[in-house]
Amino acid sequence: MECRVTPDFTLPANLTNPNRHYGYLRECDPVHWNPSIGGWMLTRYDDVQAAENDPRRFSSVRIEKLLKSHVPQALWPRLEPFIRLTSFWMFASDAPQHRPRKALLSKAFTPKSIADLEPFILLMTDRLLTTFAGRERVDLVQELFSLIPNHVLAALYGLPHSDAPLLQHWSDNIAIFLTGCLDDSHCIEDSIESIEQMNRYFLDAIDRRRSDPQDDLITRVVAEADLQGMQDEEICGQLTLVITAGYSTTAFLLGTGLFNLLKHPQQMQALRAEPSLMKSAINEMLRYESPSQVSHRVLTENMTLHSKALRKGDLVYLVRAAANRDPLYFADPDCFDIRRAKNPHTSFGGGVHFCIGTALARMEVQCVLSRLLERFSKIELIESDLPQWRRNNFQFRSMATFPVRLSV
Ligand code: HEM
Repeated sequence: MECRVTPDFTLPANLTNPNRHYGYLRECDPVHWNPSIGGWMLTRYDDVQAAENDPRRFSSVRIEKLLKSHVPQALWPRLEPFIRLTSFWMFASDAPQHRPRKALLSKAFTPKSIADLEPFILLMTDRLLTTFAGRERVDLVQELFSLIPNHVLAALYGLPHSDAPLLQHWSDNIAIFLTGCLDDSHCIEDSIESIEQMNRYFLDAIDRRRSDPQDDLITRVVAEADLQGMQDEEICGQLTLVITAGYSTTAFLLGTGLFNLLKHPQQMQALRAEPSLMKSAINEMLRYESPSQVSHRVLTENMTLHSKALRKGDLVYLVRAAANRDPLYFADPDCFDIRRAKNPHTSFGGGVHFCIGTALARMEVQCVLSRLLERFSKIELIESDLPQWRRNNFQFRSMATFPVRLSV
C-alpha cells in the first residue's frame, strides 16, 4: 500500500508526537522515501535489524551524507573540518577501521571503571535533591537530568568538574548538527567551532596524560593506543565521540522516563511499591520513547526492498522508535508497561555498532530515578506550567523543560 501522507519532519508540530507518523509508515509504507530528511525510512523491526546486521551494504560512513541532506549547498565547503574530524569516530567507520577504534574504548571502559562511578552518581544526585526541598517549582531537566551525565563523564575521563558545562555545550552543538537544528538555538558555525575546540581540548589532554599518567579513562585509552601505534587524531575522535554519544542520550532518557511514569500513575505506583521493577522499567522507558529515535546508514550498492528501488549512495534511516512499537515483536506496543516480559527493544542499536555505554546509562538512570522516588513521596506536574517536548530536532526525543512540584 502506498503512503497517503508524507510527514514533514522539519515541522516542529510533527515532532511533538512522531509515533503516530511512525505507526502509519510501519503499517502502510515500511520503506518510505522522505524528502524532508532526504532519506529512506525503515520502520519495521525486521528491516531495522537486517540493516544493522549488514554493515557491508549499510555503511556507517555517514557524516557527509547526513550533513549534506540538510545543510544548503552554498555552505558545503564550510563543512570540511567537521567531516574530517568526525571521520575518525568508530560510529562513522566501517571495517577495517571500526574494530580497532571500538576495541580501544571497550578495553578502557571496564566494568570496574563503570561500577566505581556509582558512589559518585549517588552523592551528586543526593546533593542536588537536597537543594530541591521546600521549593515551589523545580525544573528537573535544567536542575538534575542535564547535570548528572556530563559530570559523570568528566569523572570517568578524569577531567575537572568545572569543565563539565563546556563539554555539555560542545556535545549539544555537535549532536544536534548531525540531523539539523530546526530553530535558532544551534547554528552551523557553533557546531563547527565546537568540534574544533573539543578536538584541541582532547589533543591537549592526551599530551598531558602521556607526560603525567593518572588513574582515568584518558590515560588507559592513550596507553592502549600507543601500544597499537594509533595516531592522536584517531584517539581524539573516540574521546569526543563518547562525550557526544553519552551525554545527551542519558539525560534525555531520564526526562522521558520520568515523564512517562507521571503520565501513567498506576505504573508509578507499581514501581514505588516494588522498587526491584526499576530494571525492567528502564527497558520499557527505552522502548517507549527511544532517546535516539533513528540511526543512519549509507547504501554501498543498489537494492530492492519491499518493492522499492534504493540506490547506491542513498541515506537510510533505521527508525528505532518505530521498530520498538512493531506489533510483531511487542504485545500491545502503545501501552507503557514496566512489567513487560518480552522487550527486545533496539534503543541501544545492534550489530557491530551496538552502544558501548549501555551499562553506564542504565546505572545512571537507576541511581537518579531511584533516589528521586525514595526522597520525594509525591512528584506532581504543574497544570499551568506543563513540561514541553523538545521540537527542534528529528534525531532526539526529549523534554525541553520539566517543571514539577515535589513533596517529601
Ligand atoms: C540512554 C542512553 C543511550 C542510548 C539510547 C544510546 C544509543 C545508542 C545507539 C542506538 C547506538 C548505535 C548507533 C548506530 O547504530 O549507528 C549507540 C552507539 C554508541 N554509543 Fe550509545 N546510547 C546511550 C548511552 C551511551 C553512553 C552513556 C555512552 C558512553 C559513555 C555511549 C557511547 C556510544 C558509542 C561510543 C557508540 C558507537 C559504537 C560504535 O559505533 O561501535 N552511549 N548508542
